[in-house]
Amino acid sequence: MKKWKVGVVGCGKIALANHLPEMLTVAKNAEVTALYDTVREKAEALAEKFNLQATICSSLDALLKSGVDAVIIATPNLYHYKQTLKCLQAGKHVLVEKPMASSVEEAEEMIALAEEKGLVLQVNQSLRYSAPHKKFADLIAAGEIGVPFHANCRRTATTSPDKGWSPGATWFVQKKYKGSLVTDIAVHMADFLYWCLGPVDNVMAQTLNLDHEVPDNVNALIRFKTGATATLELSWTFPCNLEDRFEVFGPEGAIAMTNEGIVIHKKNRKQPRLIKYSAIKAIPNSHKVFIDSIAKGGNRNWLYGRNALALCMAIIESNKTQAAAVPAMIESEK
Ligand SMILES: NC(=O)c1ccc[n+]([C@@H]2O[C@H](COP(=O)([O-])OP(=O)(O)OC[C@H]3O[C@@H](n4cnc5c(N)ncnc54)[C@H](O)[C@@H]3O)[C@@H](O)[C@H]2O)c1
Repeated sequence: MKKWKVGVVGCGKIALANHLPEMLTVAKNAEVTALYDTVREKAEALAEKFNLQATICSSLDALLKSGVDAVIIATPNLYHYKQTLKCLQAGKHVLVEKPMASSVEEAEEMIALAEEKGLVLQVNQSLRYSAPHKKFADLIAAGEIGVPFHANCRRTATTSPDKGWSPGATWFVQKKYKGSLVTDIAVHMADFLYWCLGPVDNVMAQTLNLDHEVPDNVNALIRFKTGATATLELSWTFPCNLEDRFEVFGPEGAIAMTNEGIVIHKKNRKQPRLIKYSAIKAIPNSHKVFIDSIAKGGNRNWLYGRNALALCMAIIESNKTQAAAVPAMIESEK
């Protein structure tokens, strides 16, 4: 079997915490052979940390000419669109970080080019490759609590990512780099709500820019096509740490994600059932899906990213117009 050569563009926190560790899990079929970061030392440090025999490139062009088959794009949000187009133009498969672009129009252009060239374009919507999240969505799809009528998601932090997750990465809170809590966290959580409750009809959102020039608090009320509702509460500026909350309610019970695992409450059962995260069977990670898709031909790997972006754009639009916005989503199945 061919060993695919992969380049990594942007050697910051997510490359360190996710892309390189997950690439090791597919080491039999793929290897990182080239790295590029505008701060060369970051690429060098990553190569050293993972003991990579990779070329440290001085530009994206150089990386594209280094013989790679595929590229992982892990740069600040602003660059995803242009860098993806450039990689696709050069005939490379692309795994791009979320949000895949800064508008649905940009995303459509990226998708059209990937389809035209017959290349895999995947978005690193991490929750879609997480076993506990899949188990949670599967339980709901299996009718464990009946057809859901409401969900609530609260995910709050006391700091923005430039202080906590990737110290000094101020692009996360700057408009010109397309940073914000919407593109950082709503892009995951609105997508997870969609996964659990189905197609979205409309979104009413209010955002606040409390300590930053971009939204650092996001509150949204989502109406699904089934008639169900969901509330989404996100913050980077909470005064203290509160446990995250993700709960879905149906006529037969409720399912919640907790620190211990997935908890299922049933109407006629006294004790809730706990499914510990450690008991949930692993599923293929994002990088395995990406590399396998390259080998056998990808099929709409961009879909989750495309729809998650549409939800983010609806949140931004609704806050701007102070009216409900209809996300420009497309059907899951074709
Ligand atoms: N999937 C997830 O769960 C998840 C989690 C965190 C971050 N992300 C995404 O990953 C991306 C990177 O986030 P991060 O936390 O690693 O940020 P970071 O700031 O830690 O790393 C970004 C790196 O890109 C480099 N860079 C900047 N401009 C560049 C350019 N034009 N070309 C090449 N390199 C450039 C920087 O020097 C830096 O090393 C963002 O899009 C973010 O939204 C995804």
